[in-house]
Amino acid sequence: MKSDFIWMDGNLVPFADAKIHLHSPSLHYGPGVFEGVRCYDTAYGPATFRLWEHMVRFTRSIHVLGFESPYSVDELCDAVHETILANNLRACYIRPLMYLEGPLALNLAETFPHVSVSVWEWGTFLGKEALEKGASAMVSSFTRMHPNSSMTKAKITGQYVNSMLAKSMALKSGFKEAIMLDTEGFVAECSGENIFLVRDGKIFTPPRAAILEGITRDCVITLAHDLGYEVIEEKISRDQLYIADEIFVTGTAAEVTPFSQIDYRKIGEGKRGPVTKEIQEAFFENARGRGKYAEKWLDWSWNGALQAGSEKAGSKQPAENGKVATD
Ligand SMILES: Cc1ncc(COP(=O)(O)O)c(C=O)c1O
Repeated sequence: MKSDFIWMDGNLVPFADAKIHLHSPSLHYGPGVFEGVRCYDTAYGPATFRLWEHMVRFTRSIHVLGFESPYSVDELCDAVHETILANNLRACYIRPLMYLEGPLALNLAETFPHVSVSVWEWGTFLGKEALEKGASAMVSSFTRMHPNSSMTKAKITGQYVNSMLAKSMALKSGFKEAIMLDTEGFVAECSGENIFLVRDGKIFTPPRAAILEGITRDCVITLAHDLGYEVIEEKISRDQLYIADEIFVTGTAAEVTPFSQIDYRKIGEGKRGPVTKEIQEAFFENARGRGKYAEKWLDWSWNGALQAGSEKAGSKQPAENGKVATD
């Protein structure tokens, strides 16, 4: 998770010097906001994936916490691209963070927001093998927060203690991921992913009220509709997971990953099922710049400096229809 530079309030700071004071209220009480975005090395060169939507969610998370973002969505997107270029990365994970400085009181009013952007190289989140073979998961004994005690639409840093407790317990127990139920006992989401199940050719996913509105979730719903699947947003019980034909999770980190086993029960055939495969392939096709949504979801407009001098420069150019124009 190291890089050469981190962007801090408009300046590119060497990694070792990117520090904040011990008395940041964000460190003591958890009021901060973050995002997770990917940059893929695509047919058009490095391209950020749905960066605009991530930065809109970032500014909305800041708004939910009661602040206005010190930077516009455009400025934040520029900051991300500047940071990737400064670190000379082609594919990476991007971590924008809003943290606070001010008095150590339980009062947000006197604190001031600051923004940083870090980037680092990152592979598959639940393991490369899991993309095909599937990962194991357990239903966590930690409940997902009630939307009125924490703000489920916002990526507020302190809320992720809940995710960390659930995920750490799952890992210690020999599973790769934790599935969390909401306060009514219905399936909510995983520690950092949204969840889908397939049954009798239909796709089901929990409604949005108690979960993070995932951007990958939105991609998958769009792609599933295109592939002719009905996607139903409704409450899902724990045992509906056990009898599903297929289960997969979505997230910037996990991308589209099947679950092969939950609570020691095999899901479907115990490996990636055909519907998951179709959706996963459509997702990666677009993320790599070759699908119908590549032009809409990817931004490669900034990558000239990285492209220059690379073997790809000039050999492939963006085409109007989102397909790669090879020479
Ligand atoms: C709790 C939670 N749910 C779902 C997701 C998936 O969201 P996205 O697809 O926008 O990365 C994330 C990741 O940001 C998350 O932290």
